[in-house]
Amino acid sequence: MDINTRQFQQIRDLINKKSGIFFEEKKVYFLKRRIEERIKQNGLSDMDEYISFLKYGDDGNEFQKLIDEITINETYFFREFEQLKAFAEECLPEILEIKKKRKEKSINVWSAGCSTGEEPYTIAIILNEMLENIVLWDVFILATDINKRVLEIAKKGVYESRSLKQVAGPYISKYFTPVDEEKYKINDASKMLVSFKHGDILESDAMVPDNFYDFIFCRNVLIYFDEVSRKQALEIFHKKLKYNGFIFLGHSESVGRITDSFTCRKMKNYYVYQKL
Ligand SMILES: C[S@@+](CC[C@H](N)C(=O)[O-])C[C@H]1O[C@@H](n2cnc3c(N)ncnc32)[C@H](O)[C@@H]1O
Repeated sequence: MDINTRQFQQIRDLINKKSGIFFEEKKVYFLKRRIEERIKQNGLSDMDEYISFLKYGDDGNEFQKLIDEITINETYFFREFEQLKAFAEECLPEILEIKKKRKEKSINVWSAGCSTGEEPYTIAIILNEMLENIVLWDVFILATDINKRVLEIAKKGVYESRSLKQVAGPYISKYFTPVDEEKYKINDASKMLVSFKHGDILESDAMVPDNFYDFIFCRNVLIYFDEVSRKQALEIFHKKLKYNGFIFLGHSESVGRITDSFTCRKMKNYYVYQKL
């Protein structure tokens, strides 16, 4: 089945408008293969029919199925270790110091674009290691993703060993239970700290209270967005962060290039961004 430039652009613009994700021309074959499968599943005959269906006949279900096919969900535990080190050893102690002065006992984290859950569970493990007595804290980790399929995997919390390739041996025994030779389940104590929710970052303004989060992680998500959507997402994150709160993006994504709302600070080995 062929896809011409007009059809590619129409589908690309629909996806972009609803999710922020932007496909460059060079991704035409990636998109084409996935759309062909959706055309087949819906018993339609060609691209134009599929575009009309998406535009006028869809109650949202088909768009969700398309999104579940086209998002890149690559992730693993303790991804971007140096950044997590900066979070654990420098940013978190600063926030804890502020909380101590204010006699606050809550920590709120948002993992936006959490995929199959490795990122929010990694944060849960780090908090468990770094807080003196986690049960004395009210820890809330919200983990959201636009892809429903990955959230089902995240909620189960069962992972192949390749997802754990960066997890140190002692942490594997402390935080996971082997399911079989190849699979591990995250323990209940870490699981309990994470609430998974389906949602589009760009539509999360109403879902999430303002000035609420101490930390937002949105790593390896904005690289798939166009510039306008990136800026929009960072404006939302800025609103949702508390003063002094930190935002973490992926290593190839620079907050500074997108907005000057955040203050860039150099920690020992890492640049971090903060709402000051
Ligand atoms: C490459 S994964 C990154 C996972 C994790 N943050 C990490 O760094 O390992 C990107 C995730 O962002 C999600 N995503 C893409 N656009 C989104 C949007 N508009 N709202 C919420 N999630 C989105 C995708 O479904 C995918 O699971």
